[in-house]
Amino acid sequence: MSNIGSYDERIKDFSWKIAEEELGYKEGDVINIGWYCSDRICDQGKADKLALIWEGLGGVEKRYTFNDVRLASNTIGDHLRKLGVKNEDRVCLFMDKIPELYLSFLGVLKIGAIAQPLFSAFGDESLHVRLDNAQTKVIMTQRKHVGKVRRILEQMPYLTHIIIVDHDGKKPLKERESVFSLETAEKIEKFEIFPTKAESPSLLHYTSGTTGQPKGVKHVHYSLISQYLTAKWVLDLQDDDIYWCTADPGWVTGTSYGIIGPWSQGITQCVLDTGFSAESWYKFIAKNKVSMWYSAPTAIRSLMKAGDALVKEHDLSSLRHIASVGEPLNAEAVIWSERVYGMPFYDTYLQTETGSMMLTNYPGMKVKPGSMGKPFPGITAAVLDDNFEPITEPSKSGLIGFRPDWPSMMREYWRNEETFKKKFANGWYLPGDKSTIDKDGYYWFVGRDDDVINTGGHLVSPFEVESALLEHEAVAESAVVAKPDQVNMEVVKAFVTLNPGFIADDDLELKIMNFIRKKLSPLAMPQEIEYMEKLPKTRSGKIMRRMLRAKEWGEEIGDTSTLDDE
Ligand code: WT7
Repeated sequence: MSNIGSYDERIKDFSWKIAEEELGYKEGDVINIGWYCSDRICDQGKADKLALIWEGLGGVEKRYTFNDVRLASNTIGDHLRKLGVKNEDRVCLFMDKIPELYLSFLGVLKIGAIAQPLFSAFGDESLHVRLDNAQTKVIMTQRKHVGKVRRILEQMPYLTHIIIVDHDGKKPLKERESVFSLETAEKIEKFEIFPTKAESPSLLHYTSGTTGQPKGVKHVHYSLISQYLTAKWVLDLQDDDIYWCTADPGWVTGTSYGIIGPWSQGITQCVLDTGFSAESWYKFIAKNKVSMWYSAPTAIRSLMKAGDALVKEHDLSSLRHIASVGEPLNAEAVIWSERVYGMPFYDTYLQTETGSMMLTNYPGMKVKPGSMGKPFPGITAAVLDDNFEPITEPSKSGLIGFRPDWPSMMREYWRNEETFKKKFANGWYLPGDKSTIDKDGYYWFVGRDDDVINTGGHLVSPFEVESALLEHEAVAESAVVAKPDQVNMEVVKAFVTLNPGFIADDDLELKIMNFIRKKLSPLAMPQEIEYMEKLPKTRSGKIMRRMLRAKEWGEEIGDTSTLDDE
């Protein structure tokens, strides 16, 4: 029997109190995610249960019980407190998927500070704009990434400590740097956890928009209520599961469902901190007997490409339930998974801003391949017309709207109230996606309502890439759009005009690509750069991305009456 039982029954008298009661929380109580994910699990008699099975390069493995997690997060919390970190200070976690990342996350929350996890492949500029917006006090990082911090250090007077968690004592430390080693630090058994309340801030995740700088999405400790229950009912986590969430905690899935969801219910999870290969993924599942697997469409499409024969070479019989998130999951991928794994991938829809799953397929419910499923109980969702009124006619496309009343809804964009306000209309939160709802109430993704590029499940702002391109000496003007791709669904493509004296050749293309990869990230790096004599612009001088995008997708170009084609 699945945890959710019957979806239709669950939505009838749903209340978030179900999760509050299971977590032993009452309105006004102290609620601290760090405590819920470690101390409380130990108190429930699971101190010796495995919390984390970690595997890095070369098959190196580390294991942590819930008691280890409790002690490690105490120890890190204590270390930060002694450095002067106070509640609501921002602590950036800039690490690969190493155990310290997971353990520090809880340590930061335990002292009431705000965790700011950032994808470790970010280059200096991506890092800088995010630290600057958050006025981050401390960054915890690794030797291999500290160079990026050093390069931007002078511009960050607010950053008082750079903690290196894997220093080997060989190279000298530089300004503001110190070393922390979980292995040698004295373990803190008794720790005073900061008494955060429901609305105390917990987490800042940065997400990209079409215009302007990335937005810092602020979440609070009360988000636990949503994350706990969605993980339980949708991922269907059971006490004896071995759970694998492939997402990086630099992104929302990796924190909501790679830390908080599973650990708040005392579930054993595993982490593979190596790059993607179909073979190594299957080996990992077989070796650890993964039973619940939460992944993303781009990975699934790559697995499809790797072929059926490879699936048969591995014993994947431990798998019981599999789900997907982050970008459109095409029907073929669902049908394929049913054939080769004996079960469909259950698609789920969430956003950095929503903090937890909003639309999903449920165990026991009929899966319609290609559909995102139905709203989670307690979520009031609709597809809206031009007046932001729900469309009642089935299968008509409109903007998705959610009533902003679930526990893990973002509370603000950090220091950016203006953009935050624009995300609401007529009492609805607008995630910026379009969908239809069929006659049975299933949601079908239509597309985004803005120019943001979703490449392999990661959002990239065309504006950020365009701005970075302009910083290259050869580039005079730039326009960035999504280009279709079989595996990543979309990839970044740039159109540029060059400054006089530069030659439009392959060598320059590679140089510009590399420049963006280092400055922003490998995700934001254009996969193709097309040189142009001039870019299409409106009469008022705005670059018409829409036209360039339509060309890439072989779509109708639409209204070009404002085009300046002199
Ligand atoms: C955007 C949010 C990697 C973590 C989740 C992404 C798109 C998300 C689906 C889905 C189609 C989806 C939306 C959404 N998206 N899930 N199941 N089907 N599109 O978090 O980086 O904030 O991106 O990802 O466009 O708005 P995020």
